[in-house]
Amino acid sequence: MGAIQAVATAVFVCSVLLSCQAALDFDWTTVKAGKKLNWTHCYSGLQCARLEVPLDYSAPHHGVAGIAIVRYPSTSPKSEYRGPILFNPGGPGGSGVDAIAESGAAFSAVFGEQFDIVGFDPRGISYSTPTASFFKSDAERAQWQHPGVDSPYPSLNTSLDVIPMQSARAQLLGTLAKSRDTEGLLQHITTDNVARDMLRITEAFGFEKLQYWGISYGTVLGATFATLFPEKVGRIIIDGVMDGAAWYSGNITNSMEDTDVTLQSFFDGCAASGPDGCAFYAPTSGAIAANLTALSTSLLNDPIPVITNLSYGVFSYTYLRNVMFTALYTPLTSFALLAQGLAELATGNATLLYTMGEVAPFECVRGSHTNPVQIRQNSNEASLPTACGDGSVVSDTVAQLRGSYETGAKLSSFWDMFGNWRVRCSGWKVHRDGRFLGPMGASNTSFPLLVIGNTADPVTPLSMARKTSGYFPGSVLLTLDAPGHTSIAAVSTCISNHMRQYFQDGILPDAGIVCSTDEEPFPSTSGNITKRSVQDLELLEALRQIRAGVYPITLQGLPRLR
Ligand SMILES: *[C@@H]1O[C@H](CO)[C@@H](O)[C@H](O)[C@H]1NC(C)=O
Ligand SMILES: *[C@@H]1O[C@H](CO)[C@@H](O)[C@H](O)[C@H]1NC(C)=O
Ligand SMILES: *[C@@H]1O[C@H](CO)[C@@H](O)[C@H](O)[C@H]1NC(C)=O
Ligand SMILES: *[C@@H]1O[C@H](CO)[C@@H](O)[C@H](O)[C@H]1NC(C)=O
Ligand SMILES: *[C@@H]1O[C@H](CO)[C@@H](O)[C@H](O)[C@H]1NC(C)=O
Ligand SMILES: *[C@@H]1O[C@H](CO)[C@@H](O)[C@H](O)[C@H]1NC(C)=O
Ligand SMILES: *[C@@H]1O[C@H](CO)[C@@H](O)[C@H](O)[C@H]1NC(C)=O
Ligand SMILES: *[C@@H]1O[C@H](CO)[C@@H](O)[C@H](O)[C@H]1NC(C)=O
Repeated sequence: MGAIQAVATAVFVCSVLLSCQAALDFDWTTVKAGKKLNWTHCYSGLQCARLEVPLDYSAPHHGVAGIAIVRYPSTSPKSEYRGPILFNPGGPGGSGVDAIAESGAAFSAVFGEQFDIVGFDPRGISYSTPTASFFKSDAERAQWQHPGVDSPYPSLNTSLDVIPMQSARAQLLGTLAKSRDTEGLLQHITTDNVARDMLRITEAFGFEKLQYWGISYGTVLGATFATLFPEKVGRIIIDGVMDGAAWYSGNITNSMEDTDVTLQSFFDGCAASGPDGCAFYAPTSGAIAANLTALSTSLLNDPIPVITNLSYGVFSYTYLRNVMFTALYTPLTSFALLAQGLAELATGNATLLYTMGEVAPFECVRGSHTNPVQIRQNSNEASLPTACGDGSVVSDTVAQLRGSYETGAKLSSFWDMFGNWRVRCSGWKVHRDGRFLGPMGASNTSFPLLVIGNTADPVTPLSMARKTSGYFPGSVLLTLDAPGHTSIAAVSTCISNHMRQYFQDGILPDAGIVCSTDEEPFPSTSGNITKRSVQDLELLEALRQIRAGVYPITLQGLPRLR
């Protein structure tokens, strides 16, 4: 959840960790909202439309939202066409349009060409209107907060004044957002309304029931939909599950239950792979952990100035914490690089780790008040109306925030990062009366949900997937034995074959199945890769493309549930 800045042409330059994106060029301002889907060609080979929906479903004539929708169209003959599968990449604040524009073809390869693969930007976010933005210009936003990883989410553990300062900043931002929201738009940017929008999108395609895959925060959205519209469930997969009861209570502390398990998999994997496989190798997991602690503590006294071709900044304790926490989301692609960066840091060279979180400096674009390409810079603030406006009001004082920090820190060593969530929400002041607050669940959905959880997910522990499956009798929990956030993080043909069967044939996996991943975080952990069929290799490639298309959008920023 959070800064979730998509990598856009010209403005953001790809960092090593975030991998490179194809140019995502399309001018959404030309697409007018309508009650029907009026497709226009966009990106390469895709179609775009903007659907008009009520801003306020309890007062349908009081304003509209315009939902940006992209589809990778089905290529099947009409007789085999099976309608849209909607995708939500989490956040809240993540752009489904960017994800599908980037890798819609790969989604189609995995799920089948009978489906339209559909990405949409939830109201408030990216190309949808109205936009959740509290600043009058991008320059104003950049002055409030420079775009580097270390600024939105400082480690709360570095000095006594971090929590009070962040609390005061949250109050300021919350007050600013409310006072500038003269039309009262922000209160409508909530998950229950996005769920209602998903039903409208489905109906606009000419279908009655939702087909959906949601990851991370997208699981709250999917479960909320199934709770509000149990008879409209066609197929729903929720993957990397946040407990909806926790979400709507405003207290998601338990989401950090497995964070340290994920970190432990870094230590264990590094020790097992040997000095050739892991650059930060030491003979035991414990020794690697101790080396890491020594190294990060040293940054408190000796932060390191770094200058690269793209930017410059100070590599600090907070910076390292952000890079580490981010790496836990995608161990299979990040751990080896993280180890390399740590080994270089041990020699005094912080450049590689710095580039893993590097963001291009802000630049004003001449002659334009708000650069359309930079509109996605609002994704950090766009998460707030939903992340903080959905649930119960959090109005903690500094003393209470310190108390909840102590609670969270007992659960996870990464609470210094994730605790920012509660601090940010403590300043939020827009909560719509009558919004959905739970309870989550439905005794009889029109089709059972498929629930997926990883055994070591840094922000959505398996226990939450299990709990959520319990809200929906008949749903099946499918487990992925891998570290990382959502099944996208750890490519698994086993998982994706079950997902495909579920969408195509309505077949749920047997209860209790545990899939493994086809990848390893460090090269030489178990020697040879087994021989693969051509179909499997193509599937693996498609799954990697999905990960590359989704995670750049997902990675940055906190509170990164995603
Ligand atoms: C559909 O969109 C095109 C532009 O892409 C526009 O010219 C046309 O009027 C629209 N049709 C309707 C019915 O809104
Ligand atoms: C939040 O949840 C955690 C874990 O269940 C609990 O220990 C803590 O007291 C809760 N915090 C608040 C402020 O309710
Ligand atoms: C890890 O710690 C050991 C001592 O326990 C030391 O010999 C080694 O150089 C350290 N390695 C790194 C990469 O810091
Ligand atoms: C940085 O710039 C220098 C000089 O222009 C160039 O030689 C070098 O390849 C660049 N490095 C990277 C990583 O782009
Ligand atoms: C520091 O690390 C970077 C990235 O790995 C490398 O390009 C650079 O040459 C290193 N600098 C020194 C002084 O070794
Ligand atoms: C805070 O820092 C202390 C001392 O460096 C460390 O022992 C502790 O694990 C950290 N806690 C969190 C939640 O970061
Ligand atoms: C559950 O819903 C289905 C279809 O919506 C219906 O046929 C069935 O009778 C319902 N079962 C129960 C126990 O309510
Ligand atoms: C990998 O396979 C090759 C050829 O089949 C074999 O010689 C080698 O010992 C294997 N290595 C491991 C680590 O299993």
